[in-house]
Amino acid sequence: MKSIEIITRRLLLKPLGSEYVQTVNDYALDYENTKYMCNLPNKNIEETINFLENAEAEWLKEKPEYYEFAILYRNQHIGAVSIHFENGIGELGWIVNKKYWGNGFAYEAAEALVTYFIDNMETTHFIAHCDTENAASYKVMEKLGMVRTGKWGGRRNKSASHDTFEYQYELIIPR
Ligand SMILES: CC(C)(COP(=O)(O)OP(=O)(O)OC[C@H]1O[C@@H](n2cnc3c(N)ncnc32)[C@H](O)[C@@H]1OP(=O)(O)O)[C@@H](O)C(=O)NCCC(=O)NCCS
Repeated sequence: MKSIEIITRRLLLKPLGSEYVQTVNDYALDYENTKYMCNLPNKNIEETINFLENAEAEWLKEKPEYYEFAILYRNQHIGAVSIHFENGIGELGWIVNKKYWGNGFAYEAAEALVTYFIDNMETTHFIAHCDTENAASYKVMEKLGMVRTGKWGGRRNKSASHDTFEYQYELIIPR
């Protein structure tokens, strides 16, 4: 896959890779930044390095199954947005370093990602999941025009000691 760069009003989205190890590690090991996530926090920098090496290798594939983008704001790496494909459905994900929360960055990045995949990759079905307590995340989904299509228990966030509830949201683009 050739590299993809997406420019928005304030942000630049670029392939996420090993060059961002310190700034990814800053949020990936932070409890507050990851408490509603199933795959984070990482225990150590080795886990972050491994994640970034895999993301980088995926970018090199002819037909990647997933795309991880670094979010850059004024040349600073502030977070990531991603899309993982299964059976043609794109699962969206996002994380922003907590120092940058509340500025509309996650929505701006995610909206640009969705638009790019609709326009250039013929993606017509997007899905996303989050903890029902994670208002910041489901607000991003709702601002994207996604509709809540499920709620169930049995979610186990990585740093949690008990199960919680999860929402599912979807966006289907008519062709
Ligand atoms: C979810 C996350 C990426 C949102 O990032 P952000 O850049 O702060 O989000 P935005 O500023 O684009 O906000 C989007 C909407 O959510 C609202 N919002 C943001 N934080 C909120 C909060 N803590 N509670 C309620 N609403 C919130 C915003 O007001 C905005 O809605 P509005 O435009 O109607 O005001 C960020 O909180 C984060 O990194 N969380 C930790 C990682 C995570 O949980 N990722 C999702 C896993 S499913």
